[in-house]
Amino acid sequence: MAFSSLNFFRALLLLFLATSAFSTRPYKEGLTPHFYDYACPQALPAIKHVVEAAVQQERRMGASLLRLHFHDCFVNGCDASILLDPSPTIDSEKLAFPNNNSVDKACGYSLVSCADILAIAARDSVVALGGPSWEVQLGRRDSTRASRTTANTDIPAPNMDLPSLISTFQKQGLNTRDLVALSGAHTIGFAQCRVFRNRTYNDANMAADFAGSLQSLCLRTGEDSNLAGLDPSPAQFDALYFHNLLAQKGLLHSDQALYSGGSTDELVKTYSDDAEAFWDDFAKSMIKMGNIKPLIGNQGQIRLNCRTVN
Ligand code: HEM
Ligand SMILES: *[C@@H]1O[C@H](CO)[C@@H](O)[C@H](O)[C@H]1NC(C)=O
Ligand SMILES: *[C@@H]1O[C@H](CO)[C@@H](O)[C@H](O)[C@H]1NC(C)=O
Repeated sequence: MAFSSLNFFRALLLLFLATSAFSTRPYKEGLTPHFYDYACPQALPAIKHVVEAAVQQERRMGASLLRLHFHDCFVNGCDASILLDPSPTIDSEKLAFPNNNSVDKACGYSLVSCADILAIAARDSVVALGGPSWEVQLGRRDSTRASRTTANTDIPAPNMDLPSLISTFQKQGLNTRDLVALSGAHTIGFAQCRVFRNRTYNDANMAADFAGSLQSLCLRTGEDSNLAGLDPSPAQFDALYFHNLLAQKGLLHSDQALYSGGSTDELVKTYSDDAEAFWDDFAKSMIKMGNIKPLIGNQGQIRLNCRTVN
């Protein structure tokens, strides 16, 4: 009796050791939502707390964090290489958040990768701005190299038409439905005059009153960095972005391209009056995007400081 209960205990202990070792070592099978469950259950709540505080202080921080994860994933996979790049389009200096060591403090040491922090922060930002939630897949590791040149070729440009947008996403293993759903991220945040000027003065598929009001904000020359909301409610994760496209009021040429007589018109219509459908698809596509070429196993490293390699 005593012998068998000791054996039982030993088995339990072995099981416990096996699971804790399993959770702190690089995970070889791909990503899992439970990656930090044993090693640092405080990690996710700590990130959520910091994101909520940051978004409360400045709503746009949520948009910046979502965009940062997108760019990270499109440049060589979601490996936080974007944080090493002095990017021309993203001011990562401004994003004190991924640098904040509150997560390391919560875990006792540097355990959570910067790439995972970006993925979690993107989800928490969407939630903080009233959007859907999803279970973030985890276990990414951080790159040891920046990839400035890929950044310039793989990130879609705002002057693209539908076929180019589709192929840019296809190159990442994302289909046309992912393209439309993920473009819905433009339901939050802002764009600078320099990226919508050409559309404002030259595109035929832009509502005249909308073009007029943008022209007073964005003159033919100068004031390149004046901001306009990407949709009428840039701090709210709603379906107005799609509704707006039906009225030819997309801010970027690439936004309106999704509703300009092509294959994606129907889906834009669907999302425009069914926010639930948009949210469901957005969440699914975010998980898919977060799975682009992650570093796992012994690849890469866990950076101590997200902006420099160890
Ligand atoms: C479909 C192709 C896309 C193009 C061409 C595009 C282009 C752009 C451009 C030009 C801006 C404005 C940047 C500036 O003026 O500083 C912007 C902002 C933004 N983009 Fe995209 N984007 C695309 C897809 C996405 C995706 C897939 C996401 C996320 C899942 C995303 C999230 C955002 C957010 C949240 C902002 C606002 C950022 C802020 O206010 O700081 N975009 N995008
Ligand atoms: C960094 O984290 C600490 C908590 O550890 C918090 O008090 C501080 O406001 C955070 N700073 C930023 C810039 O998020
Ligand atoms: C500006 O817009 C016009 C009209 O859509 C287009 O033909 C032209 O290629 C655009 N120029 C740039 C630099 O995007």
